[in-house]
Amino acid sequence: MSYLRLEEITKRFGSFIANDNISLTIDPGKIHAILGENGAGKTTLMNIISGLYQPDSGQIFLQEKPVKINFPSIAIKLGIGMIHQHFMLVPQLSVTENIILGTLKNWGLNLRQKQQEIAALSEAYGLTVDPTAKVENLPVGAQQRVEILKVLYRKAKLLILDEPTAVLTPPEIDLLMAILRQLAADGHTIIFISHKLDEVMNLCDTVTVLRRGKVVANTTTKEATPQQLAALMVGREVALQLDKTSASPGKVVLSAQNLQIEDDRGVLTVRNVSFELRTGEILGIAGVDGNGQRELADAITGLRTVKQGKIELNPSVQAGKGSVVGLGYIPEDRQKMGLVLQFNIAQNLILKAFKNLPFCRRFLLQPEAIRNNAYSATQEFDIRATTEDVKVSQLSGGNQQKVVLARELARNPMLVVAMQPTRGLDVGATEAVQRRLLAQRDRGAAILYISTELEEVMAMSDRIAVMYRGEFVSVLDARTATVEQIGFLMGGGRKASST
Ligand SMILES: Nc1ncnc2c1ncn2[C@@H]1O[C@H](COP(=O)(O)OP(=O)(O)O)[C@@H](O)[C@H]1O
Ligand SMILES: [Mg+2]
Repeated sequence: MSYLRLEEITKRFGSFIANDNISLTIDPGKIHAILGENGAGKTTLMNIISGLYQPDSGQIFLQEKPVKINFPSIAIKLGIGMIHQHFMLVPQLSVTENIILGTLKNWGLNLRQKQQEIAALSEAYGLTVDPTAKVENLPVGAQQRVEILKVLYRKAKLLILDEPTAVLTPPEIDLLMAILRQLAADGHTIIFISHKLDEVMNLCDTVTVLRRGKVVANTTTKEATPQQLAALMVGREVALQLDKTSASPGKVVLSAQNLQIEDDRGVLTVRNVSFELRTGEILGIAGVDGNGQRELADAITGLRTVKQGKIELNPSVQAGKGSVVGLGYIPEDRQKMGLVLQFNIAQNLILKAFKNLPFCRRFLLQPEAIRNNAYSATQEFDIRATTEDVKVSQLSGGNQQKVVLARELARNPMLVVAMQPTRGLDVGATEAVQRRLLAQRDRGAAILYISTELEEVMAMSDRIAVMYRGEFVSVLDARTATVEQIGFLMGGGRKASST
């Protein structure tokens, strides 16, 4: 008997069909993936199952009984718990308060007893978290465990996780996977939404692939290969492996000597870092989040001063200092730093050049030049939007990132600093971003590629620096480095004496 069955679920927003006749079956105790690119309709479908949206047609069955989930409260009663992409916790409250919030008729409660119940739950599933801690003081991974505890506390048997790994570091991802496996082994049914193939292959039993609101496959991870799933998602063959020629490094573009950099609280987060970066090569920086990568990128792009040491940039990178013509920066947080979300695509594309010809003439903006620029950039970078007047806030993550790339790479910078450039992007957009950056390298740009995704650093880089506690613990040749070796160094292991 199936645990959850959807029969021809359709959901429209106006004339747009977000979910088109979706049918799928999930067996009890299984981990089921909903795989699809950004905008495929995954979250919409989960919002229907958790009672936030009503379908226009179709039927939901729970344990083969037809159910009508009119409100989120009904979903909870039916044992359905959703862990949203953006957490819905109250930051000022404690872990325990967040978990029991709304479950009690009155507040004359025995807090200590609740804390014990929660501690027992967290122990049973390895959901380690301090029940007395304030949520705002917890790292993202721990906040997510609170969200999971919250639905378990409400006795959820079906857990829905919407892109849960997007915000996690590699060790946190491993921990989450272990927790989910344990929950499934204990009889919970799990829906795992993702666009990351390796996670799906690794964790899930069965998988539904969505494309543009439609089911394009209901299959199992045993039967399907990652290549097949990627092609189903994107609707064409995608290269999971980048084919990349070997680098031909030229002159030094960036030279860093003995850098010491502090973070915002004055803690020394980059120590003794020295390296050179040349034209035509990609230096990757691998490391778990928070090991000094952010401060290093800030210092190189001029957003942070160094405490000691020196950063020397080739004079042509500095040409036109102030607007820094020779530097392209793909910042980690594209929404906060890379874009002005309330501006449209055309405006975002000229953020750095709006005072210059051809966009501005005698202090007057030139709408035609701005529009033409937007038109050619959207064509060249495959930015998918109805017009260039669309506000950037309305674009998917992948298309937002393409706007950043189009602007930053427009003037063929000599140095490109890319920090987590594919974070949160789907396979198709990831491939597009990586190809662009490789093309920049082949044109002769020097690229610093910072990512917490080890596979990605290995695929993109010519040399790999491993950063741990602010230091470059090793710089390796990407052609010979292994995942095990780098993973070991990322975790604080020191280089073996033989190498
Ligand atoms: N409330 C809404 N109103 C209008 N359009 C929506 C709404 N929610 C989602 N959409 C649209 O439906 C499509 C699917 O969105 P979503 O389910 O969030 O996709 P996914 O989670 O797979 O990225 C997108 O094109 C999105 O813009
Ligand atoms: Mg979504």
